[in-house]
Amino acid sequence: MKRQIVFATNNIHKLNELRAVVGNSLSILSLADINCNDDIPETGSTLEENSMIKARWVREKYGYDCIADDTGLEVEALDGAPGVYSARYAPGNGHDSQANMNLLLLNMKDKKNRKARFRTVITLLGETSGCHVVEGIVEGMISDEPRGTNGFGYDPVFIPDESSEHLSFAQMDSDAKNAISHRGRATRALLSLLKNM
Ligand code: IMP
Repeated sequence: MKRQIVFATNNIHKLNELRAVVGNSLSILSLADINCNDDIPETGSTLEENSMIKARWVREKYGYDCIADDTGLEVEALDGAPGVYSARYAPGNGHDSQANMNLLLLNMKDKKNRKARFRTVITLLGETSGCHVVEGIVEGMISDEPRGTNGFGYDPVFIPDESSEHLSFAQMDSDAKNAISHRGRATRALLSLLKNM
């Protein structure tokens, strides 16, 4: 039987991305696949802590080997904010991408330094493999206004340095984004780790 690993998410985009990268070598299960409907607390103050909390939750409560991720947008002129709070940057119930992006643009209004990076941390916690942490980073700039309609979250205002045409993530197709993105890089680092286990 194929080795089963839970990816601590129900985000279908993230699941498909990881399944595409690992191919047939592993069976990647979602939280729904193991009947986990828990609202797993993300109470850490770093991306590393949050991904560890999620991986440990699944490993300890459900007994599965687990992969968990956390991502943040770190803006230099804002001392690394929104960072670990990227999903809940704007006041309210959180997870409102439009409100988060509007607040970011407002806070960046008079800033000359537009440097920013996306960082994804992935923790793997397995019975035999132990604990491993990988990360993926993409450096870029915050634009003055949103551009493009693809992707999600802060994509319309993030222009990766590696885009020679200065396109935002939201102006790229998913293959072009995955080739250089924080999550693409972290996922490939995870895959090479899994291959050597
Ligand atoms: P999560 O850890 O993947 O849930 O990401 C936290 C927040 O970062 C999300 O709510 C998004 O707003 C933002 N985010 C994560 N990945 C991306 C991305 O690839 N593009 C744009 N925004 C992202």
